[in-house]
Amino acid sequence: MKQLAYLLRPMASQDLEAVLGVQRLAYTPDLHESLTVFSSKLERFPDSNWVIQGERGLLAYLFAQPARYLHPPPLNDCDAAVAGADALHLHDMAVAPWSRGLGLAGQLVATGLNWGRHQNLAWATLIAVQDSRSFWQAHGFCCGSLEKSLDSYGQGARYMYQSLLG
Ligand SMILES: CC(C)(COP(=O)(O)OP(=O)(O)OC[C@H]1O[C@@H](n2cnc3c(N)ncnc32)[C@H](O)[C@@H]1OP(=O)(O)O)[C@@H](O)C(=O)NCCC(=O)NCCS
Repeated sequence: MKQLAYLLRPMASQDLEAVLGVQRLAYTPDLHESLTVFSSKLERFPDSNWVIQGERGLLAYLFAQPARYLHPPPLNDCDAAVAGADALHLHDMAVAPWSRGLGLAGQLVATGLNWGRHQNLAWATLIAVQDSRSFWQAHGFCCGSLEKSLDSYGQGARYMYQSLLG
């Protein structure tokens, strides 16, 4: 079987158009975020976003950002506060449909969790959408509950977390 050649590297602003293209294919329109939101996230959190580049284009991306445990940033948020951040929030991860099932998402998750540990963040958190809960459980996340409504993330969205300590 031919091996897929790819490179996992930090995201750069030049990647954002291609990131938008993968987002379009991966999420229902109500979950799409704009170029402005993506640019702002990259500017505010330049070290916690990654892409996987293939020979013919971008295959996958992960946006993550420092946040407070139990206080996830809302969708379309350009300016979440980071004061007192104790968690790495995995905000958005997607793999192009033709590159799924190859472990690319698993590698992005591992990269994000390692980064969070190196920053001494105590938690990794996320909001699971589009029936992805079992994917995240397989990567060590548990379901939590929040007082705040997650309605803007679509039906069935769940807050999930895992400890990065120990
Ligand atoms: C979820 C997603 C990122 C997984 O990407 P991937 O590169 O195919 O994942 P990997 O190859 O690392 O892992 C594959 C494993 O995850 C499982 N998996 C993939 N997508 C899943 C999903 N939506 N729900 C549950 N399990 C899923 C596969 O069945 C496979 O399981 P196995 O190893 O037991 O066979 C990808 O399906 C995607 O981009 N989905 C659309 C965007 C999305 O919903 N992102 C998550 C938002 S919180």
